[in-house]
Amino acid sequence: MTAGMPRLNSRATCDSRMIELKLPASRIDKPALYATLLQQAEALFKGEHDPIANAANLSALIWHALPGLNWAGVYRFDGSELVLGPFQGKPACVRIAIGKGVCGTAAAKRETIIVPDVHRFEGHIACDSASNSEIVVPLMNGDTLHGVLDLDSPEFNRFDEEDRKGLEALAAAWVKAIS
Ligand code: SME
Repeated sequence: MTAGMPRLNSRATCDSRMIELKLPASRIDKPALYATLLQQAEALFKGEHDPIANAANLSALIWHALPGLNWAGVYRFDGSELVLGPFQGKPACVRIAIGKGVCGTAAAKRETIIVPDVHRFEGHIACDSASNSEIVVPLMNGDTLHGVLDLDSPEFNRFDEEDRKGLEALAAAWVKAIS
């Protein structure tokens, strides 16, 4: 291998496990899409336990497959607060206290929060002024909080119960892979 050349390994075909789908959110078959995404995530995580690597692939997978997003990524819980992890989109705030913003609220409550209009969510932390709706899914292993999965959209009311189900399944696959 030539020094400085990118090293390819058995995962060099990762992008063949990703789908590009740029239909409007209202026109996609979400259950089918999330079922495919779950298979792809499990294939990407197979044999890999590193939380950062798997969070990086998870955010890239979501970013390229789901329409109508302006941010997708993970905040990890460091034992006291949420810290920015791998993501796609514009640079974001690095640390979020538990209980603050949508992310910190989802982490504190240990439950998924769907925000149809972020401007009506008291305490919303605006990292990208383009964001109008948001969903945050806690990354939990039993009672243990590992972080949150956060998706933002420039569309109002972008996320629904099908997104919740699909993203919670992806979050569970990430937690399983790193455990
Ligand atoms: N809006 C989030 C902050 C993170 S960014 O959306 C990437 C919140 O209110 O917690």
